[in-house]
Amino acid sequence: MDHKLQVEILKDLMHQLDTGKNIDVGVQYKIPTDSYANEELAEKEWETMFRNHPQAIGLSGALPEPGSFLTLEDFGAPVLATRDKKGTFRAFLNACRHRATRVATEARGKRTLFTCPFHAWSYSNEGDLVAIPDNDHFGDVDKSCRGLIELPALEHGGLLWVHPQPEGKLDIEGLLGPLANEIASNGFEDLVYVGSKTIDRKLNWKFANDTFGETYHFQKLHKDTLGHIFYGNNTHYEEFGRNHRFTTANIGIDKFRELPESEWQINQGTFVDYHLFPNIQCIWSGDNVSFIRIYPDPENVGRSITQVDFYFSQTAVDAANAADAETKAKSVENVYERTEDSVSTLESIMEVFNSTIEQEDYVMGEYQQIAAASGIAGDALIGRNEPVIHHYHRSYREALGLPPLETIEPPIQTAAE
Ligand code: FES
Ligand SMILES: [Fe+2]
Repeated sequence: MDHKLQVEILKDLMHQLDTGKNIDVGVQYKIPTDSYANEELAEKEWETMFRNHPQAIGLSGALPEPGSFLTLEDFGAPVLATRDKKGTFRAFLNACRHRATRVATEARGKRTLFTCPFHAWSYSNEGDLVAIPDNDHFGDVDKSCRGLIELPALEHGGLLWVHPQPEGKLDIEGLLGPLANEIASNGFEDLVYVGSKTIDRKLNWKFANDTFGETYHFQKLHKDTLGHIFYGNNTHYEEFGRNHRFTTANIGIDKFRELPESEWQINQGTFVDYHLFPNIQCIWSGDNVSFIRIYPDPENVGRSITQVDFYFSQTAVDAANAADAETKAKSVENVYERTEDSVSTLESIMEVFNSTIEQEDYVMGEYQQIAAASGIAGDALIGRNEPVIHHYHRSYREALGLPPLETIEPPIQTAAE
């Protein structure tokens, strides 16, 4: 991110902290709670935003070297993603061209040949069908026509994108606008994949996304957890088409008050959440990115699966490896009392996802889901201090061709008042 912009955002957040005023966009939105429980809408979402929409599947570090591969089945099409011998990111339908079972069955690893477990047809990591056992018994097959079905795949600015349809278009600049170059300037391509976490809970995927869209709740719901390291009630936010950047201050911001602006670094005083429509929350903070992918269950409108992948700088990985068991244990134990010299181990970042996202945010989401499913909960009201959620739902409705949400403007003040 451009340094001038980093300073601008940090100054805005400091100003909000100094004046005790969160962002105010001057308008409230009403969201019908039915939109979180409506099966007809859920079907449309699945078709429009998942089965037929570009999907960001991770950072470059998910496929660290030629021969790396990963598999996923989160958005309808089973995908085998590879890095071929030239280092190019490729994606294929993970379906054998004999009788369509999976050719790769592990979540990730390193392999250049994939042998189908059913009858052992083999494919290269470039998708070519290279061997058919007992070919003379099976009969003639034109191998050049039976390679794995290739899906559009693109690596841009450290992000891996796949389109779930073979004829789909991947136009990242068109999708993200200037955000594409901003993300590309952050060095995400150098981050190392260190692990994943899956959260499978009974809340609609939009309730899960909403929880990443405001800081109003930080000092309430998270007062004993995240509230120790984030101020809450402060928000910097900018839209890029259906995507946005949302930034909020952590206690690290205070040290910049004593330092020249040339030394200010946004990731040392905030988290920056890049929301990539429709389902990605890419949270950049300190030396790491938590890449959060939130998927609906197409069979159950009241369930979602959150896949969180953790990426760290090589320096942080080396420090975590060098740290002894006692330091690691301490970093988890004191995760909400970080000091300048504490080590951000994978375990400590994971702990945040356990104790805040899973045990606090998503618990609220499950309660919200029960109410939404009752059919009599009416509207949710989204405040003037929650524009990130406004934007997410405006984009969502626009993508589905739904009428705009009802808004509530404040009464006009007259001079006499
Ligand atoms: S289904 Fe793959 S080899 Fe038969
Ligand atoms: Fe939260």
